[in-house]
Amino acid sequence: MAVDVILGLQWGDEGKGKIVDYLADKYDMVCRFQGGPNAGHTIIIGTNKYVLHTIPSGIFRQKITNVIGNGVVIDPITMVRELDNLDKEGIEFRSRLFIARKAHLILPTHRYIDAASEAAKGKQKIGSTLKGIGPTYMDKTGRNGLRVGDIETADFKEKYEALKAKHMDFIKLYPEIDFDLAAEEQKWFDCIEIIKELNFVDGEYMVNKAIKAGKKVLAEGAQGSMLDIDFGTYPFVTSSNTISAGVCNGLGIAPSQIGEVIGIVKAYCTRVGSGPFPTQLDDADGEKLRKIGSEFGATTGRPRRCGWIDIPQLLYTIMLSGVTQIVITKLDVLDEFETIKVGTHYDVNGEVTNELPYDINVSGISPIYESHKGWSSSLEDVTTIDGLPQEAKDYVSELERQFGIPISMISTGPERRKLLVK
Ligand code: GDP
Ligand code: IMO
Ligand code: MG
Repeated sequence: MAVDVILGLQWGDEGKGKIVDYLADKYDMVCRFQGGPNAGHTIIIGTNKYVLHTIPSGIFRQKITNVIGNGVVIDPITMVRELDNLDKEGIEFRSRLFIARKAHLILPTHRYIDAASEAAKGKQKIGSTLKGIGPTYMDKTGRNGLRVGDIETADFKEKYEALKAKHMDFIKLYPEIDFDLAAEEQKWFDCIEIIKELNFVDGEYMVNKAIKAGKKVLAEGAQGSMLDIDFGTYPFVTSSNTISAGVCNGLGIAPSQIGEVIGIVKAYCTRVGSGPFPTQLDDADGEKLRKIGSEFGATTGRPRRCGWIDIPQLLYTIMLSGVTQIVITKLDVLDEFETIKVGTHYDVNGEVTNELPYDINVSGISPIYESHKGWSSSLEDVTTIDGLPQEAKDYVSELERQFGIPISMISTGPERRKLLVK
């Protein structure tokens, strides 16, 4: 069986968590393949709201095996908080949650460096979630990192101390900031003891054996394609490959194993943190999107910047990941807009294009918009795609035409049941 993939095609927070939770029922295994606790995936089941940072969003489906792949970076402190929340809700997960030994650990000093580096950047800051993501991936590629499998070795403490010593030298390069390292270290080691009780696996063997046995595997992406380390709005990106290529090295599977690539697209667009966002709205419409869409970060609580959907940006990320189907989320947020705009092209210094220029950060890009009539009614009671108001159907059809690939589902609310399936 092939591995299907769920990815965010914008700047994150497209509603991946909700869609993974919905689709997980049709799979045997859900695997996170990159990112770490910078992610915040919201799942609403009945009246309960859960936000997952490290744990795959298949955890609420009782029969599903959940794997945290080698491409993920794990902070034991955040992870234990997530485990505690699951315990509080009475959700049994211990027999169904597996962590790849090759996943890297986020140390307290990684968070310390993240915070010091951002403070030193001043106005140029990335707007990082300050979860230690960048410094941990730096240590991974710099061949200094500590991995989950190291926890099982006799000299784990010495390895930790050696890496910490390197970090303490490095930190001297930055102006001083407030960080209670002793307290964070204490918590970290307490949480390591708890994590130790979980199932550590050689993830690449586990996933490949599952595929061979005919199991259905769903790979869950974090962040969005425009935050990809290679193809995003560099340097305002995260530190992992968020596109479908990341699934292969984040889980240890071959490209030939990839099946459906399901791209999640918000019916408008948001971004949290710094960096370019061509269709951003700094006006009343932007404010209205933020308010109706409750656009505040699930991890940091920061207000998200809001704007219209951006076709050149989406064509780019569809291309990069070989997306085979699209899920539109948060269509209901547009209920009260008389006019809905779609950025169809860019004007780059007088030239009209639907391709992203190399330096989207500095060049004079202005989006060219097409206006669509809104439906000005509530989607609350709509249960089928056919039942959508005509203007909503027209908006979705126009997006589908522009994407050139099918839209397979439309989400009309945060709850599990608010999903229109083709
Ligand atoms: P993720 O990081 O991609 O999983 O997305 P987040 O959880 O960070 O942000 C998506 C937010 O939108 C969450 O608060 C979801 O509960 C909410 N949400 C998801 N789908 C819909 C939808 O169709 N309509 C509305 N109104 N909210 C949605
Ligand atoms: P999910 O999985 C939205 C953004 C941060 C910052 C940049 C770098 O919930 O969609 P980092 O902490 O990685 O150093 O931050 O990336 N960012 C996200 N934005 N959703 C996310 O995850 C994000 N993860 C990181 O705001 O601009
Ligand atoms: Mg999120």
